Amino acid sequence: MKFFSYLKQHKSKLISLIAVIYIMALLPLYAWKEPVRMEKVELELLTENIDSAMTLYAENCALCHGLAGEGIGPNPPLNNPGITQMDYDTLFKIISFGRYNTTMPAWGQADGGPLTEYEISQLVALMQNDWWTYVQTRVINLGLQPLIPFESEPDPELLASVAALPNGSVLAAGITTYAAQCVSCHGADGLGTNIASALNDPALREQPQEEIENTILNGVSGTLMAGWKSILTSDEVMSLSTLIKEWDTIPSGTIPAPETPIHVTAESLQLGETLYAENCSFCHAAEGQGTPRAPSLNVKGFLEDTNDMAMQQIISLGVPDTSMLAWETRLSEAEIQAIVGFIRAWEPTAPEVAVPARGSGNSAGGGRWQNPGSTTDGSKGPPWMRDGYPSN
Ligand code: HEC
Ligand code: HEC
Ligand code: HEC
Repeated sequence: MKFFSYLKQHKSKLISLIAVIYIMALLPLYAWKEPVRMEKVELELLTENIDSAMTLYAENCALCHGLAGEGIGPNPPLNNPGITQMDYDTLFKIISFGRYNTTMPAWGQADGGPLTEYEISQLVALMQNDWWTYVQTRVINLGLQPLIPFESEPDPELLASVAALPNGSVLAAGITTYAAQCVSCHGADGLGTNIASALNDPALREQPQEEIENTILNGVSGTLMAGWKSILTSDEVMSLSTLIKEWDTIPSGTIPAPETPIHVTAESLQLGETLYAENCSFCHAAEGQGTPRAPSLNVKGFLEDTNDMAMQQIISLGVPDTSMLAWETRLSEAEIQAIVGFIRAWEPTAPEVAVPARGSGNSAGGGRWQNPGSTTDGSKGPPWMRDGYPSN
């Protein structure tokens, strides 16, 4: 009883004592947590900046420096300690000003480039940290895989017919150089792509040849059109400008589009394998050998005749009036590409003749198709089939 009245009397003191003890106990904890909190904020900011920079890289730099900073042809790699350890100012200057007399353009707005100082600072953060595996995924997801290493093969018969023209040897040389160096951006037969304008173009033909050569030699500042003077000989530049001037005499189909294989990584293969098992193996069998329900995909003829783009298109759009659905409404583009990469990996060991899987009880059992609801192994078939598969 006494004790309680004591408590009552000194309640306020006691409370403040408790408060002091409480604060004293928490203070070091708080002091310890504060830098952690700061670090977390800084890390979040860095992550945010690098995240933006990955998109900037995909849109502006991957074309020359590669999917994951590995470098392409004359364009140097960036994914190395030499770059990571470069100081902030040096990197900022290289990216802002470019490298004079090389194909590295100036990116800073002060030098006619498209990027703000803030964006360049984000790119510097990307260069100084090793995030290249994430960059690769971003570039692929945005569909901005570099086309640069891809060249095309001029049609031999049409090339020979061009070579027989009065100015033929120069035009043929121009075509060959174009197919090796320019087709990746300016497209088949010079008709342009979503990256670069058409060079087979009446308005451009009106320009004096000298002006066209000047563009090829020096590029167009602030765009992806690099200056080629350190790469091409003056004969090559002359043959290209002649081709551009006389493109209306070149038969269409002379320079086909480059075939652009789908990029495969360990992760995309893994994803492709999982998605194939979930969505495709039921009809095409676990290893693509085919079943009575669907043709074999793992056979030399099919894999050799169907390039990655064609296969992606078949899977995306399906085959009308068959059970082969248009998968583009069920899977993302990146997922379909992962499946194509997985199927493509069969090619080196694909048999000449299809050997379809038969019988029931295995993953490709023929019996399930007739009665998907009651299979011998108790499975009910893939999820989409249970959810009311359209009977087309
Ligand atoms: C048109 C092709 C092209 C594009 C696009 C391009 N670069 Fe470059 N870059 C080059 C070339 C070529 C060099 C080497 C120049 C030289 O010889 O010094 C280079 C050099 C560099 C260097 C210095 C490398 C070193 O080892 O010294 C950095 C950093 C760099 N680029 C970053 C970028 C960034 C960031 C972007 C995107 C904003 C970009 N580049 C876009 C062609 C390109
Ligand atoms: C990395 C992609 C890329 C490559 C490779 C490339 N170009 Fe370009 N080129 C462009 C872009 C983008 C433009 C448009 C620039 C602009 O917006 O003005 C352009 C513009 C041009 C122009 C000016 C067109 C006009 O209408 O004024 C010419 C000429 C040209 N390129 C020639 C070539 C030749 C020849 C080659 C091969 C040696 C080549 N380019 C390689 C991206 C590229
Ligand atoms: C319900 C059964 C079924 C499923 C599931 C299925 N397919 Fe098909 N697929 C077919 C049939 C049937 C054809 C043949 C269509 C025809 O008659 O041309 C076909 C054709 C194809 C072809 C073209 C083969 C050729 O020889 O031209 C490809 C590629 C293909 N499928 C890939 C896939 C992929 C990848 C998946 C999974 C995302 C898938 N299919 C899922 C039934 C299926």
